[in-house]
Amino acid sequence: MNYSAFCFSVFGYSQKKGTKKSVTIKPKTEFVAELMAKMTLDEKIGQLNLPTSGDITTGAANSSDVAKNIEEGKVGGLFNIKSVEKIKEVQKIAVEKSRLKIPLLFGMDVIHGYETTFPIPLGLSCTWDMKLIERSAQIAAQEASADGINWTFSPMVDISRDPRWGRVSEGSGEDAFLGSQIAKAMVKGYQQDDLSKNNSILSCVKHFALYGASEAGRDYNTVDMSRIKMYNDYFPPYKAAVDAGAGSVMASFNEIDGIPATGNKWLMTEVLRNEWGFKGFVVTDYTGIPEMIAHGMGDLQTVSALALNAGVEMDMVGEGFLTTLKKSLEENKVSIEEIDNAVRLILNAKYDLGLFQDPYKYCDVKRAKNEVFTSANRLEARKIASQSLVLLKNEKQVLPLKKSGTIAVIGPLADAKENMAGTWSVATNMDKSISLIAGIIEVAGNETNVLYAKGSNLDYDASFEEKATMFGKTLHRDDRTAAALLAEALKIANQSDVIVAALGESAEMSGESSSRTNLQIPQAQKDLLQALVKTGKPVVLVLFTGRPLVLVQENETVPAILNTWFAGSEAGSAIADVLFGDENPSGKLTTTFPRSAGQIPIYYSHKNTGRPLGNTEGKFEKFKSNYIDERNEPLFPFGFGLSYTTFDYSNLKLSSDKMKFDGKISASVDITNTGNYDGKEVVQLYTRDLVGSVTRPLKELKGFQKITLKKGEKKTVTFEISVEDLKFYNSDLEFVAEPGLFEVYIGTSSDAEKKVSFELNK
Ligand code: BGC
Repeated sequence: MNYSAFCFSVFGYSQKKGTKKSVTIKPKTEFVAELMAKMTLDEKIGQLNLPTSGDITTGAANSSDVAKNIEEGKVGGLFNIKSVEKIKEVQKIAVEKSRLKIPLLFGMDVIHGYETTFPIPLGLSCTWDMKLIERSAQIAAQEASADGINWTFSPMVDISRDPRWGRVSEGSGEDAFLGSQIAKAMVKGYQQDDLSKNNSILSCVKHFALYGASEAGRDYNTVDMSRIKMYNDYFPPYKAAVDAGAGSVMASFNEIDGIPATGNKWLMTEVLRNEWGFKGFVVTDYTGIPEMIAHGMGDLQTVSALALNAGVEMDMVGEGFLTTLKKSLEENKVSIEEIDNAVRLILNAKYDLGLFQDPYKYCDVKRAKNEVFTSANRLEARKIASQSLVLLKNEKQVLPLKKSGTIAVIGPLADAKENMAGTWSVATNMDKSISLIAGIIEVAGNETNVLYAKGSNLDYDASFEEKATMFGKTLHRDDRTAAALLAEALKIANQSDVIVAALGESAEMSGESSSRTNLQIPQAQKDLLQALVKTGKPVVLVLFTGRPLVLVQENETVPAILNTWFAGSEAGSAIADVLFGDENPSGKLTTTFPRSAGQIPIYYSHKNTGRPLGNTEGKFEKFKSNYIDERNEPLFPFGFGLSYTTFDYSNLKLSSDKMKFDGKISASVDITNTGNYDGKEVVQLYTRDLVGSVTRPLKELKGFQKITLKKGEKKTVTFEISVEDLKFYNSDLEFVAEPGLFEVYIGTSSDAEKKVSFELNK
């Protein structure tokens, strides 16, 4: 329903008596225009200001630093405030004490769940299940809204092909097509196509744009990219989120074509508004405005004007708008139309959220008690988490484990509930997360003897562990010597039938400002793992990580590797469900795992070059595009992931080997479950455009279906292909398909080799 088309009667809040009464509210355009006519310039500029809440404790909102600013109409929204009681108190200040009683937006980084925490976004993407991903966002919105939040800084849709960058953990991997589907699903989950509900919240697609391409994988670093690459490979997920109705967009920290995104008019106005038709508002990322001073764009007044002129509406934390816009207006550096436009877009969002009808719409204290971290939500999180795990290796069917005998669970991540939720889990209750050891004990049952030893610290260097375990995500560093820790581990290892080694990164080794140059498991844990392998017992590596790691040695020496990312508050239970075969793993990588950090950037949809390597055996060829010290291929490709069962692909065919621009053809394949377990498979379709006006990737994902097959069952999976699927941005940045030959691959990963081809004609 289009709000602005109707004039309706609703229950509004009468602040004086604290009772509900029926009020009539005008349609959006009229309502907002009338409100703006009453606003002073200061009040207008105040709406553009988004501070953090500071440390407001319950019952102390009135005496907080921000209270005075709210009363004076200098605040449009607040973020980083948790609990409905506190939010209600603060909203009361805006609604009862400020002159125009304009309610506040309450934002938070609800990135992968609220108290019920889902896998980190990179893990979630490995489910390849849009319904589950949407559902996770919906549950996050339900819990956050029950606790007073009406705006989330999610989804993060930055494509990244550089695992050195810690924030790969927050996105959906390397692929524009998959990333776009996920962006849509997340926006839908948060906003539910209806912001008038009290359990849907405003989403904010971030970080616009290209943040995932920071040079050298170093956070906040320069980005330099051709427009054609932006449009084909990096922009699509942002656009998909905008098309899905994302109500707000966050500017990224990096520069684009030499101008920081926060001050980049081409990006914010030409692309976002004029080309894509975005109607919501743009917020800076944190101190994005004052950071432009260090970028070398001028003083605070200059950069604040630059941001407003570019098309940025809300200033997070920076206070550049608050402190300089008035002066810039007097000096004609910004116009009143620009200020008015920004205010209008922010008030529109508040209107859409229903805050003018009822500023306390999200402040129902009872809801918080009944709807947050419920057993039903946790159960869904456990199911979703189990689908995000990726089985990278399973020699001699070491997995699934038997629910009998003795299992030695060893490693610094085994008893680490504070680390299970992963990065950006600000609302999670770390104490209530399920550790791996707790999950294994629960799922293994009474017939199994479970032993535990830490085995090693995160790494030998205590100062490294300090940097990697911030925000309370401790690993309880053990002050015994490495030798003593190892001796204890080997003792239980030797008593066991199988060893589960819980190793990898701590939660804060990825995420913001957690770039790495070394993509190995930390050395202390590598040494522990090799010592465990030497016992001769079968070893299962349960890997925790927020990014692709270099696992060459582990892959050579360990029979089974289950990559679990950071699977959320229910991680331990979900991992145990998979380890013991109650759930069959079905996750598929959405990002390439390199053999060496030197291969970065590495991604499946690369170009052929003029000197492609002539062999697939990894043999070095002089004057071909390859390395003298490493193969070209990754260790694990995009789309890869094993199951406890096996799938056979056969009978790949097209409905026709010719397609007209206005026609369609279908591609189909038969898939048979040839193993001993029921299972799920992500069937992936890739195309290759053989000749183009610009060079085209060797493969591009254009479709996928996740299917369930009982053991022995066979299904035919069919994909429709239309000209839309074959379009790309050419060198004039026109979105076109070009006639010619196309190859179609369908398979279990981006390595799919079976192909058929067709010709596209006008
Ligand atoms: C991050 C954003 C986040 C914001 C607010 C920034 O440092 O880059 O992703 O939404 O902080 O917490």
